[in-house]
Amino acid sequence: MLKNKERFEKNTAKVYIQTFGCQMNEYDSERILYFLGKEGYVRTFNIEKSDIIVFNTCSVREKPVNKLYGHIGRLKKLKKLNPQLLICVGGCTAQNLKDKILKDLPYVDIVFGTHNISELPELIKRRRLTNNSVCLVRESGFDYDLEKVKRDIKFKAYVPIIIGCNNYCSYCIVPYVRGRERSILPTNIIECIKKLVAGGVLEITLLGQNVNSYGKDLHEPMSFSSLLDKVSHIEGLKRIRFMTSHPKDFSEEIINVIKKRENVANHIHLPLQSGSEKILGLMNRKYTAYEFLKIIDFARKELPDCLITTDIIVGFPGEDRNDFLETLNIMREVRFSRAFTFIYSPRKGTKAYSMADSITMQEKKEWFRELVEVQNKISYEENKKLVGKKFEVLVEGKSKKDEGILMGRLENSTLVNFKGNEDSTGKILQVNITKAKSFYLLGDLCAT
Ligand code: 5AD
Ligand code: SF4
Repeated sequence: MLKNKERFEKNTAKVYIQTFGCQMNEYDSERILYFLGKEGYVRTFNIEKSDIIVFNTCSVREKPVNKLYGHIGRLKKLKKLNPQLLICVGGCTAQNLKDKILKDLPYVDIVFGTHNISELPELIKRRRLTNNSVCLVRESGFDYDLEKVKRDIKFKAYVPIIIGCNNYCSYCIVPYVRGRERSILPTNIIECIKKLVAGGVLEITLLGQNVNSYGKDLHEPMSFSSLLDKVSHIEGLKRIRFMTSHPKDFSEEIINVIKKRENVANHIHLPLQSGSEKILGLMNRKYTAYEFLKIIDFARKELPDCLITTDIIVGFPGEDRNDFLETLNIMREVRFSRAFTFIYSPRKGTKAYSMADSITMQEKKEWFRELVEVQNKISYEENKKLVGKKFEVLVEGKSKKDEGILMGRLENSTLVNFKGNEDSTGKILQVNITKAKSFYLLGDLCAT
């Protein structure tokens, strides 16, 4: 068997990659694997046998940053056993905290920013020629090329359409680590998706921090709804998802496209963040709770079966019990099928970082538990409405927990588990829903 040094010399080094955070980061990991794969490096899922470890990090909340520190701390032993092992840190934390990482974590070899993914192979070579760690974090850039991605899953794919964010919500670090909004040309998007579909992809997810801003910066401006409509006409494409939408830019045209086009998923993810006008203002969200409800009313009227999901932050500076109760009221009124709930996490460099807290962490945790309890009940009741109905399910693979059980998603993205053969992975099958849980459904395959 080749030793680590020889594998590097023969360009067959083994790469282990761990991704934190959002779908855009998952997509970036596919790009990292593409550029490393081009060098000949091969992916491994066994960290102990790897020659290069890449952490693609997230800095939206403090928790993933702490997790990263924990993970890297545990690698000291591996590094001692194998001094040639390279530890690389990329993604949003690298972009945001490069100096801190280099200072706190002396056995990190390479730090690379969100705009430097294509340069990672070069940094690896450079690191192997010096005794010091190397760091490349550009302030801005745009190295997205939709062709340069290594996808392991053959039936579904992420396709970014807009990178960065111009919104500056006061709590959010994303505009600082991903830069300004830059749309990818519609022709490139369409070409990319056509190729994916020709290769067997059934479902694509259009990605962006704020997909509704799509096209405003293009030489020939184009709206997100017209891009969505264009994509939906690609022959053979069975399902189209998109995320994330910002309520301030969400248009009735998008709802019309979902209604008109069979293959655009009946699902809207629309982050509310807070139900209080005061807190929405402090968050710089640029919409009122009333405007948010108006969009929901229109969506419910036009798309009665549409699944609506959201993100909520609890414990934003200045939030008092009344503000929190307003959030709970909207949640009860809208009845989101799922809510991704977070305790506010101060991020250095954002506007909210210097705002004073109004409640204790203990209170935040209690309100958070209250919110989750209310939402879980609603999620369960909403899921129960699907019992007894038959749906098309895209099979994603074996369930992680149970042997012989498959996991798939309904068109509206709800998870469903059912008995079946793993060979069905990547196929769309008919499933009868038999039971509901808060976070997923159980079902039986329909006889064909
Ligand atoms: N603290 C807590 N939650 C946050 N989010 C973004 N920034 C923060 C923060 N500083 C949440 C928002 C966003 C989701 C992706 O993460 O709800 O919609
Ligand atoms: Fe962050 Fe707001 Fe931009 Fe979303 S829209 S990425 S929450 S700044």
